[in-house]
Amino acid sequence: MSGMGRRDFLVRTGLTLSAALLANANPRALAGQPSPQGAFTSWADLRSQFPLSPQLIHLAAFFLASHPTPVHEAIERHRAGLDADPIGYWFEHEEKQEAMVLRAAADYLGANPTDIALTDSTTMGLGLLYGVLRLRSGQEILTTTHDHYSTETSLRLRAERTGATVRHIPLYRALKTVSRDEIVESLRKGISPATRIVAVTWVHSSTGLKLPIHEMALAIQVINRSRDEQDRIIFCVDGVHALGVEDFRVSELGCDFLIAGTHKWMFGPRGTGLVWGHPQAWPIAQPTIPTFNSQAYDLWMENKSSKDLPTSIHMTPGGFHSFEHRWALDEAFTLHQIIGKSRVTQRIYELNQQLKQGLVTIPHVTLHTPQSQDLSAGIVCFEVAGLTPRTVVEKFRQRRIIGSVTPYTTKYVRLAPSLINSPKEIEATLEEVRRLRSS
Ligand SMILES: Cc1ncc(COP(=O)(O)O)c(C=O)c1O
Repeated sequence: MSGMGRRDFLVRTGLTLSAALLANANPRALAGQPSPQGAFTSWADLRSQFPLSPQLIHLAAFFLASHPTPVHEAIERHRAGLDADPIGYWFEHEEKQEAMVLRAAADYLGANPTDIALTDSTTMGLGLLYGVLRLRSGQEILTTTHDHYSTETSLRLRAERTGATVRHIPLYRALKTVSRDEIVESLRKGISPATRIVAVTWVHSSTGLKLPIHEMALAIQVINRSRDEQDRIIFCVDGVHALGVEDFRVSELGCDFLIAGTHKWMFGPRGTGLVWGHPQAWPIAQPTIPTFNSQAYDLWMENKSSKDLPTSIHMTPGGFHSFEHRWALDEAFTLHQIIGKSRVTQRIYELNQQLKQGLVTIPHVTLHTPQSQDLSAGIVCFEVAGLTPRTVVEKFRQRRIIGSVTPYTTKYVRLAPSLINSPKEIEATLEEVRRLRSS
């Protein structure tokens, strides 16, 4: 830290902003920027905002975001400022820029900024949270056999470090017959009197299956009615493949924690993510990494306790970050708001339907992702008879189609039509799948 305290500097430069003001302010007005001028014109125009190679059909764009123009420009602006005068630019921007990011995320999620912690990725959020959720003796964590490496490993590390019990259950017998009722019923039956934490993934990157999170939350609420607050089930959801796809308000979803990276479907800067927590649930988390939040740091400098600050603040890990990326995140939320959440969902669904409806008519293809949008979002997984998933993905790349193989024990070909794709690209992809066996 510099000789001058953070708040001293902010006061002297007239930049100090009260927490109440930050909680209510329009982020763009705070930054002295005009309100977003952008209106959504066309999908082709949106695509032109990405520096993605025009020679390729990108069906793995969710893997890691390409920065669209407003995000790219904000990153470059902050980078130039930090490079020119790191300490001056940081003091001038840190507090208000972080507030703007939280405000934009909160507006998008339908939440309060004080309920959001900022992270660098889904994995960081999962690790931070699952490592520190308080458990009393005899309480267990219930998770599923369908989760991603990052959930499974966070829970395994927790168990190894603390002796916590982690139990895994399947939520369905077979993808062919899976239903929302079966999933909710499996969860309900899997919950034991010892279950304190339930950890699931909203959209499975292994199969494309989407869980009925709201119905699962309602089933948990019924069980919680007969439990004391200290035994209440805390419902945690890895939402990375739903954020920027599904049209939802997190406060109405019914879960206690939503953990997601913002550098996949949201198009946020690479190395950004968040954890949203219900205000009643946050106190169950015990922070481990010191936050660099200004209020918390100032209180420390005054020898005062910061424990009355919202837990979300303490759950935003400190140390310096790649601030040019973190401070550009509001632009990604604004871009999604300009397009409109329902239009985003509708477009992703339409392209995914087109792909799935085409795939099921191809005799040498086995589609694994449910066709219904009730049980799927933006990820389509399938197999091609006689070819390994890796061979299929390699053949696709030779034909300039970019897909991926599911990074799980069971491997499938995975294509994820998203906002940067067109129906024409999906048709071209289907044409290549039809030709696959004969080539
Ligand atoms: C379901 C799921 N959770 C978490 C992750 C990890 O995300 P991040 O790269 O943001 O840590 C991925 C994929 O990378 C994923 O598919």
